[in-house]
This record gives sequence, structure tokens and C-alpha cells, in this order.
Amino acid sequence: MTPRRFAWMTLVLLGGLAGASAAQAPAPATPRPAQALSEQAAKQAGDHYQRYCALCHGRDREGHANDHAPSLRSRSLLESGMPVIIGEAIAYGRPGTPMGGYVDEVGGPMTRAQIVDMVRWLRQQAGVQPLAGERGAAFDRVTGDIGNGAVVYQRNCASCHGAKGEGGTGTALANPTMLALTPDRFLRHAIVQGRQGTPMPAFGSVLSEAQIDDVTAFLRSRSTGWTAGKQALRTPPAAGDYVINKNGSAPDFGALKDDRYVSAAVLDRELKARRRMVLLDTRVASMWQMAHIEGAVPVPYYSREEAFAALPRDGTWIVAYCECPRAAADSVVKRLREEGGFENTAVLWEGIQGWVSLGYPVVAGDASKPAAPAKP
Ligand code: HEC
Ligand code: HEC
Repeated sequence: MTPRRFAWMTLVLLGGLAGASAAQAPAPATPRPAQALSEQAAKQAGDHYQRYCALCHGRDREGHANDHAPSLRSRSLLESGMPVIIGEAIAYGRPGTPMGGYVDEVGGPMTRAQIVDMVRWLRQQAGVQPLAGERGAAFDRVTGDIGNGAVVYQRNCASCHGAKGEGGTGTALANPTMLALTPDRFLRHAIVQGRQGTPMPAFGSVLSEAQIDDVTAFLRSRSTGWTAGKQALRTPPAAGDYVINKNGSAPDFGALKDDRYVSAAVLDRELKARRRMVLLDTRVASMWQMAHIEGAVPVPYYSREEAFAALPRDGTWIVAYCECPRAAADSVVKRLREEGGFENTAVLWEGIQGWVSLGYPVVAGDASKPAAPAKP
């Protein structure tokens, strides 16, 4: 999956920040960060950080606790990254890396508003002041009539950019990543000025101001995909369906490496032999939605103890995996072993990335289509 649904982030973050500052009429004596959170919101963001992010980014945002997750303390990252780009990374993750998506829309545990607060909190922790212009006109939303914009687009743009924005002579304007990374004003500027030395004409003297606004608004409205509906989220297996191959015999994993790890080859062999077991996908739940080993149950590393209640305590093997390749799965298995009652637990040594790159199968969250092979 590519990062999607970005428009809201631009609007929520930048609109939110702009709104906050407009409300502060007289400048306070000591300047305070424009993105200051209420004490309660900051506490919640801090709690969310420990629960969802510390595993890889470290308890104190120092980075590299696992999976080479970058430092989230770095001022330059938080300054240069701009709220939208940081927010996008958190909301939708970085496909092909252990960084999953955390927004509920893709199956993650956080709401949009909570991610906005998280970005503000990270910036506040790093002592980052808003960039000059961040709240300025450069990031203002362009409003226009989307319906008119669609007509303008078909008449003036489709010949080069494609009827569905798929690209041709011109770039693919329906590319959600492109739209995600380009504020409205940037799009509008390209339309007005054209791109010197390329086939992109300047429309500033061809279309009216209103038409340019309309086609910009139309492009923005496509940022969730040219014909996008809402992503359908799949319902995880019910507790009664946790066990794969209910009538099979127990798997023979042989001796586990370090008393914990099973290799992809052995796990695949035992799954093909239809052995009885439970597979736990311990990544952020949005990654389970994207692709998982068939039959796996999403029990993310940040699950509360209640999530373990539905797991069988009758000696059935429980095999956990993550992207990391092992950090999240290790943390869940450690908790299962501490809690007791789960006699047979293991972690997939290679993680799901290794599993996929070795050519073992996964299924997409949406059962109707096969998963695109995850990028190794
Ligand atoms: C399973 C490990 C893991 C967890 C958990 C995780 N991240 Fe990440 N994160 C990563 C990795 C790895 C990268 C680097 C991805 C890349 O190579 O582009 C990353 C990248 C990022 C980036 C982009 C940084 C940059 O340099 O551009 C941000 C921002 C971020 N994470 C924030 C978060 C937040 C906030 C949370 C909690 C809600 C979180 N991450 C949870 C592993 C993780
Ligand atoms: C004659 C072909 C042609 C037509 C007609 C055309 N474009 Fe383009 N457009 C291009 C090309 C080629 C580029 C890439 C220019 C470059 O290399 O930077 C481009 C770039 C752009 C970009 C910048 C995208 C980016 O990735 O930076 C936008 C936005 C854009 N066009 C919008 C439009 C709109 C809206 C219309 C209609 C009002 C339109 N274009 C009509 C050829 C065209």
C-alpha cells in the first residue's frame, strides 16, 4: 500500500495550527510554542508514545531501540519534516519498512486527532518552533468547485495527465504520494506558471483565477485515489477461530534456537502439514490489514493483557511474528511466558519480511485479493 489519505492531515495540522495562532490576539510576554498542547493532551500524547512508539524509537525518543528506527528527538527532522510529513509517516507508515500506519483508517490504533497531538507533542519535546511561513499563505488551502474543476481538468489537462490522472506526457497527478507531499499552493503554482522547459503550459493567462482554483481543488479531492472509496477493513478472526488446523496434531519445531526461535522454513513446513497452532501477528494492526500469514490473528505489541484471554491454554503452540524482524514478537512472547499457562510459544526468526523474501505466502487483509508481495 502507498501512503494515502493525506489531505486531511494537511488540513487538520495546518488548519489547526493556523486556527490556534489566530485566536491568540495579543502576543504573550514570553513567546510560547504556537502548537502548545493542553496539559491533558500532552500527557495523553506522551502515554501514546510509550505505548505505541517506544518499542522501536526508544523510551526517550532517542531512536535505534529496535529496527534502526530513527531518533525522534532530532530538531532538524522535526523542523524540516514539517508537521504534515511527520504526521503522514505516523498515520500511514513507510511501506516496505517496519514503520506501520497508526491511523484508524488503515486499521491502526490512533485517531487522526491523536496523531495531530502526537506530532505537536514530538515537536514540543524537541523544542521546535514553527517554521517561518509554516502557518503562512504557502500552506493555505485552495478552495474551489470540485465539479467545475473536473470539467476544466478533462478539457485542459487530461490529454497529458491522463483521463484518470494516470499520467502520460505529464506526471501522474492521481499519485497519492505526490498529492500527499504537495500543498495546494504548490499545485496551483505549477498550474499558473507551468514548468519552463517542459511541455507543462502556464495556465495563468488561459484559465480564470476561479477555474484554476477549481482544478486545484479537484486534484486535491483525488488525493484519496482517483475513484477511491474508503478502504474496507477486514474483521480479525473471532476468538473461536484463533486455532489454525483445529484437528491437526501438534507441530514438530525441533529444538528452538535460543529456546525461542523457529525458522521460516520449519514454520512453513509445519503449516503445510496442517499442524494445530495459533499464529500471532504482533505488528501494528494496520500491517495485518495489508498482508499477513494466512490464519494469523492480530495481537499487536501494544495489546493489553485482555487480548491474551482468548488464547488457548491447552498446550497449543503459539507462534508470534512481526516485521522487526523480532522485537515486537519477542515482547509479546515474553509477556505470554511471564503470564504463564502458555506452554509452547515461539517467535518466527526471520520476521514476516524475511518470510516474504524467502518466497513464503501471505494473504492481504482483504481476503478477496491476493496480497502484493511485500517489498523485501
Ligand atoms: C516496529 C518498529 C516501529 C514502531 C513501533 C514505530 N516506528 Fe516509527 N519508524 C520505524 C522505522 C524502522 C522507521 C524508518 C523507516 C524508513 O526507513 O523510512 C520509522 C520512521 C518514523 C518516522 C519518520 C522519521 C524520518 O526520519 O523521516 C516517524 C515520524 C516515526 N517513525 C514516528 C513513529 C511514531 C510516532 C510511532 C508510534 C505511534 C512509531 N513511529 C512507531 C520503526 C517503528
Ligand atoms: C501538453 C501537456 C500538458 C498539459 C496539457 C498539462 N500538463 Fe501539467 N504537466 C505536464 C508535464 C510534462 C509536467 C511535468 C513537468 C516537469 O517535468 O516538471 C506537468 C506537471 C504538472 C504539475 C506538477 C506535478 C508535480 O509532480 O510536480 C501539475 C500540478 C500539473 N502539471 C497540473 C496540470 C493541470 C491542472 C493541467 C490542466 C489545467 C495540466 N497540468 C495540463 C504536461 C502537461
